Amino acid sequence: MTVKVGLIGCGGISKPHADGYLKIPGEVRVTAVCDVVEENRTRMAEYVGGARPFESIEALLSESDVDAVDVCLPHHLHKDAIVAAAGAGKHVLCEKPLCLTLEEAEEIGAVIRDNGVTLMCAHNQLFYPAVKQAKEILDAGTLGQIYQVRTVDTFFNRGVGANAGWRASRAMVGGGELIDTGYHPTYLLLYLANSAPTEVGAMLTRHALAIEGEDSGQVLVRFADGMVGNIVTSWAYDRPAGWWQFLVVGEHGQMYSTGDELHLELRDAESEVFEHPKVNTFHLEIADYVRCIREDRRPVQTHEDGTKVLEVILAAYTSDEKKRIVSIGKASD
Ligand SMILES: NC(=O)c1ccc[n+]([C@@H]2O[C@H](COP(=O)([O-])OP(=O)(O)OC[C@H]3O[C@@H](n4cnc5c(N)ncnc54)[C@H](O)[C@@H]3O)[C@@H](O)[C@H]2O)c1
Repeated sequence: MTVKVGLIGCGGISKPHADGYLKIPGEVRVTAVCDVVEENRTRMAEYVGGARPFESIEALLSESDVDAVDVCLPHHLHKDAIVAAAGAGKHVLCEKPLCLTLEEAEEIGAVIRDNGVTLMCAHNQLFYPAVKQAKEILDAGTLGQIYQVRTVDTFFNRGVGANAGWRASRAMVGGGELIDTGYHPTYLLLYLANSAPTEVGAMLTRHALAIEGEDSGQVLVRFADGMVGNIVTSWAYDRPAGWWQFLVVGEHGQMYSTGDELHLELRDAESEVFEHPKVNTFHLEIADYVRCIREDRRPVQTHEDGTKVLEVILAAYTSDEKKRIVSIGKASD
């Protein structure tokens, strides 16, 4: 079966997604694309080899025969696009964040369940081989009890400024940098943690960018097993020296990585460095989405995982606003 995909939103991130589909032509074809901007949809329709361009999601869903969609829209449009597509019986890949509120996430969960379709969250950083290996090492208990995990995603963002468009709008982004780039270290933290988050404390700041929301964030997350997670994320500066993409500290030693290699330093053993090939995580993510559909299997991260990530992020916003630690599940207190 060749999966037929409708690509919804033909802006910046749609290009690496499109490349991912073009890499596995025997398994998938992008047969429809949608964007409100004619130039964007026409360019993408040609790029993927002759898809039908649509101006609206409704037209794409009613006039094309796609099996699945790929939502690459600004954040405030995610929920409606997912609900429309899943309601029409299409599988969904959605860029981060899943949506903007827990009420929206609940609506998404209901429509996914009612229609028996698959929703995969586009959490591309989980496709780094070093992340996969770290997860296996953690699951094997090699580090013993885990004390701390720090996850980091920072870069100097030249693209968000005076003409930032929807990214400058607190309402459209759903906050600021934390719910955008900060979403990556949040899902990475939860993925590695293997325990439920219970408390969140955050300090969010705007140092350098002309946007309504924060451009930087530091978030502490307490987990049920006693571990503390620390998310560091920013658009105001490149990753400072020594700040690994993730760092896990446990009873027997530590483990850290920037994505291409994994360092394992156990107290009573020789240190090890595992080298991994450079990968394009978007291509791996897209191939996995297509194969989840073809093989009818669960994606690495579903809407349930996306909802948990969103819950931590919303708790962080509440914490920063109210200047207190927020219990998970009570973010609206
Ligand atoms: N995983 C990553 O590393 C990564 C990187 C960048 C962006 N993203 C995510 O991808 C998504 C899109 O971001 P982007 O940078 O591509 O944004 P973008 O602004 O470059 O592209 C958005 C596109 O959506 C179109 N659009 C707007 N309203 C529409 C509507 N109602 N119907 C159809 N099309 C519409 C716009 O015309 C534009 O072409 C966001 O969720 C963002 O967080 C993820």
